Amino acid sequence: MQPVPERLPRPLPSTGARTGVLEALAFFRDADFARRRFEQFGDVFETQLLGQPLVFIRGERAITDLLSQPEASEGWWPESVRQLLGSRSLANRNGADHKARRRVVGQLFSAAALRRYTPAIIALVDQLAADLNGASTPVALVERMRRFAFAVIAEVVLGLEGDDSEALFADFEIWTRALFSVPIALPGSPFARALQARARLLERLRGVLERAQHRPTGGLDLLSGGQDEAGLPLTDDDLVEQLLLLLFAGYETTASSLSCLMAALLQHPQQLAWLQEEIEALSWPPAEGDGEPMPRLNAVVQEVMRLNPPVGGFFRRTRRELVLDGVLVPEGRVIQVALAASNRLSRGVTDDLDAFRPQRHLEPDNGLTLLPFGGGDRVCLGKALAELEIRLMAVGLLRQCRLQLLPDQDLSLALIPSPSPRDGLMVVATG
Ligand code: HEM
Repeated sequence: MQPVPERLPRPLPSTGARTGVLEALAFFRDADFARRRFEQFGDVFETQLLGQPLVFIRGERAITDLLSQPEASEGWWPESVRQLLGSRSLANRNGADHKARRRVVGQLFSAAALRRYTPAIIALVDQLAADLNGASTPVALVERMRRFAFAVIAEVVLGLEGDDSEALFADFEIWTRALFSVPIALPGSPFARALQARARLLERLRGVLERAQHRPTGGLDLLSGGQDEAGLPLTDDDLVEQLLLLLFAGYETTASSLSCLMAALLQHPQQLAWLQEEIEALSWPPAEGDGEPMPRLNAVVQEVMRLNPPVGGFFRRTRRELVLDGVLVPEGRVIQVALAASNRLSRGVTDDLDAFRPQRHLEPDNGLTLLPFGGGDRVCLGKALAELEIRLMAVGLLRQCRLQLLPDQDLSLALIPSPSPRDGLMVVATG
């Protein structure tokens, strides 16, 4: 009998874009940019964005093929992000360098560390609930979620206090605005201002690190003794760049998921009532070591992140030729893993994927592969902290407040940098 010939990999389909100017305009203007092209060219295709060739991939097969061969690709960020995060940042490192820093920074998110942060996070939630219940005018919930997420990472985890935290917040906003800008530091340009803000941020973080050595607040004492890939202590220059990365990675993403969670629940009263049944049976504040199961809340959070992933996609660069979902991707190509587009594919199991239906996550096979936190050797380092924040905020607010949406507001989502209701999610507490 003849052996069955292995299927040859298919060549990489291309949109044929040459300069990528029109593609870049479409990318920024059209939320469906990737979906349209996936429908036309398949789950793996190449295009150009402003002179940068980019391979877009979606779907379980292509993404699993990529992440299950970690040695075949490396982390990659656009030049602006690379410069603003800095060359020491673990986001810009690979191999043993990267792994060693993940191990050090990961100590801030161990189970013991999270237990230490929990009372302070609960206090922030209680404060917000009291503010909402006491407010005499409508409150913009998006702004409050942003402040909460920033306070958790800056104050609870990094241990910044009062004025330090305010000043850091102001510089951080300048810094973030330039993250996906043109990386040319012309005087007065957003990128030049962001580089100056970066220098001030690093200086302030250095101060925090020094203070933590004799007066520990937050979790920074957990980092002492952290070692690099050669077993040597990490320098302070190195550590402060990791702390800057945590602010960047941990703030906008978590704020977005909290705002989208509240927006979805307030627009779907039946789903809110379904969730509320579970929440009412939970203790607040949770007892220490309390691992009460919350299947409905988990399902709601998964559904919110499926429809509005805080991180719509992430990048890799191939270190060698790779076959992704049967398509040959050459060495040296930048890949965009399109999470947002993957979340609306279900291997034909269901076709109601545009609907908000949390119950699908309690069904035995919903045909979905969801990776809101990425996967493989660069999977989100702060996943456990983000999940803790979301759980505490959802339970604490829903136990203590009855919220209503102010009528006549734009509830559609601005997508960049992370999904967020356009009019700020105006709410009133009704007691
Ligand atoms: C809902 C909230 C969050 C979401 C959806 C999210 C999602 C992600 C995703 C998709 C990645 C890229 C994974 C990859 O490249 O394979 C990532 C990386 C990362 N995240 Fe998160 N994240 C969240 C919150 C946080 C928080 C709270 C922190 C820390 C305070 C954090 C720290 C990081 C770091 C340090 C990386 C880089 C990991 C590496 O390159 O090795 N994230 N996150």
